[in-house]
Amino acid sequence: MIRIEKLNKSFGELHVLKDVSLEVKQGEIFGLIGKSGEGKSTLLRCINLLEEKDSGVISIKGRNVELKNGRDIRKYRKKIGMIFQHFALLERQNVYKNIAAPMECWKYSRKEIDVKVRELAKIVGIEDKLLEKPRNLSGGQRQRVAIARALALEPEILLSDEATSALDPQTTKAILGLLRDINERLGITILLVTHEMEVIRSICHRVAVMEKGRIADCGAVSEIFLNQPKSLKRLLGDESEVLPEDGVNIRLLFKETMENRSLIPDITTATKARFAVLYSRLEKFRDEVICTAMLNVKQQDIEKVGDYLNDLNIKWEEVEHE
Ligand SMILES: Nc1ncnc2c1ncn2[C@@H]1O[C@H](COP(=O)(O)OP(=O)(O)O)[C@@H](O)[C@H]1O
Ligand SMILES: [Mg+2]
Repeated sequence: MIRIEKLNKSFGELHVLKDVSLEVKQGEIFGLIGKSGEGKSTLLRCINLLEEKDSGVISIKGRNVELKNGRDIRKYRKKIGMIFQHFALLERQNVYKNIAAPMECWKYSRKEIDVKVRELAKIVGIEDKLLEKPRNLSGGQRQRVAIARALALEPEILLSDEATSALDPQTTKAILGLLRDINERLGITILLVTHEMEVIRSICHRVAVMEKGRIADCGAVSEIFLNQPKSLKRLLGDESEVLPEDGVNIRLLFKETMENRSLIPDITTATKARFAVLYSRLEKFRDEVICTAMLNVKQQDIEKVGDYLNDLNIKWEEVEHE
């Protein structure tokens, strides 16, 4: 659907995007995560031609995007909706006018506009706010208006740049639910940029980790979280854990399944090793549940425990002492 190959972009001396390649498949929610300043917004802006790339290829549905004249660019942008952290609404206009704005630009008839505005307001859940001004709405409602506006021209792609970063956790959850719903019901492909792990975990199919203008790792969300590549660890880095100083601390990661449910007691039964369970928790990745556990194992038992886990194909690793 969206294919990016060896994309480069500099601002003066600052080389922001370095040979970025990635592919977003039709119908998926693809997450791009990274710390601030890594080049995520610049990548989105290159995709919708708000920035001009220096080199590389961007193609949508197999067609290279090499547009020069204004008319072609406007036609291209029509297929791509975009939402931002700070909503970018027209403050003097009411909600109805905000949603209608892109259709007015494209000279849709009043009747068409009216039908579409009401349909979209219903989808995003603000049908009772059409006559309000944005300032009278909560952050979540404002983002709903922005989403409706982004969908007005029936785009095939929705680009989201930190759309939930200004919202509280409860509202974030509701907006993410809405994006997921739009993806499933309308079949719109979503490329979503965020610095928040939770956003990736709850709605994305696949994720790419961006570091210093490069794609450091890319894969299915549950795979990336199971494998914990270094880039992801660096992103999670500041959660320093308090762990015992003696023995060996190991972290286990596995899918929560019927067989795995008694994994921890099974280790004891099979190996006779004694260890402390420092924690064990379940986390949801879209629809998949993954268990993370931290064990403190005696030095003399670590080999047995490691062998047992390897036989079961359970991912584990030693966590170094600080
Ligand atoms: N128009 C611009 N002119 C100059 N530098 C820019 C411009 N846009 C972004 N940058 C710089 O590019 C780098 C990446 O920015 P950005 O893509 O916004 O990162 P992110 O979205 O990951 O936080 C930053 O160092 C930023 O200051
Ligand atoms: Mg940004």
